[in-house]
Amino acid sequence: MKLTQTKEELRKALGELEGSVALVMTMGALHEGHLSLVRAARASAQNVVVSIFVNPLQFGPGEDYEAYPRDLEADMALLGTVGVEVVFAPAAEELYPREPLVRINPGPVAALYEGKTRPTHFAGVLQVVNKVLNLVHPDVAFFGQKDAQQLALIRTLVADLDIPVEIRSVPIKREESGLALSSRNAYLNDEERIEALAISQALIVGRDAAARGGAPDSVRALVQRHLEQAPGVTLDYLSLVDPETFGEIESGTAATRGLLVTAAWVGSTRLIDNMEVLFHE
Ligand code: PAF
Repeated sequence: MKLTQTKEELRKALGELEGSVALVMTMGALHEGHLSLVRAARASAQNVVVSIFVNPLQFGPGEDYEAYPRDLEADMALLGTVGVEVVFAPAAEELYPREPLVRINPGPVAALYEGKTRPTHFAGVLQVVNKVLNLVHPDVAFFGQKDAQQLALIRTLVADLDIPVEIRSVPIKREESGLALSSRNAYLNDEERIEALAISQALIVGRDAAARGGAPDSVRALVQRHLEQAPGVTLDYLSLVDPETFGEIESGTAATRGLLVTAAWVGSTRLIDNMEVLFHE
């Protein structure tokens, strides 16, 4: 496993690889969720490149970019257990020697849902994803389904700019209880952990209702009711969107596939989750 910290070192290390390349982009502080992306990458290509970069552009004012956990040694040790050819872990100045003048405009979807509370977040994400794809030029890149809006925006970036890479997603990892794995779960106390289960349970109720023939509007309303009535849960948003474009499935329209997306507060912890639903024609 080769650690590279400059573009030049990365270019050299990539030049020594033979065969297909799969990329996993991360901000470090790696956990089991990241490793599932790396394992999927491992199974899909001859070489795996992992980037570790805390991207300042995707942090808004007051989001505490400085305090984001950084532990390269621990991350390298974890990656060593899965098998990775190249790690790219540049300093901020290496990727952004000055404020970038040319900026990615992520379009209207970036202002919705997660973008409502973080208005500059997705522009920063797409800026760095575009740069790292250009530096690594992988055959395939893996992103988690947990960050469904980010995934949809990255797919749009790649389609709209004709970036020659295949984007693949890796399903959400869940505890046996159904709770989606997240580093934020660590902030939940015992009672909140139980209350938080209502989120995935509400999404399952929606998925099952669709499977039984429920129409999009009634499924959305049902899930909304479940979330609003769940003790200890304060709903931020619940929507039914097109899984590819993230455009809202409007009231009254027919759809065969949808993605229920939600964010909710449990105590002072904000959790996100999503689930695909299939409707009958
Ligand atoms: O999902 C993340 O960890 C980040 O948004 C990403 C894709 C690595 C870009 O910084």
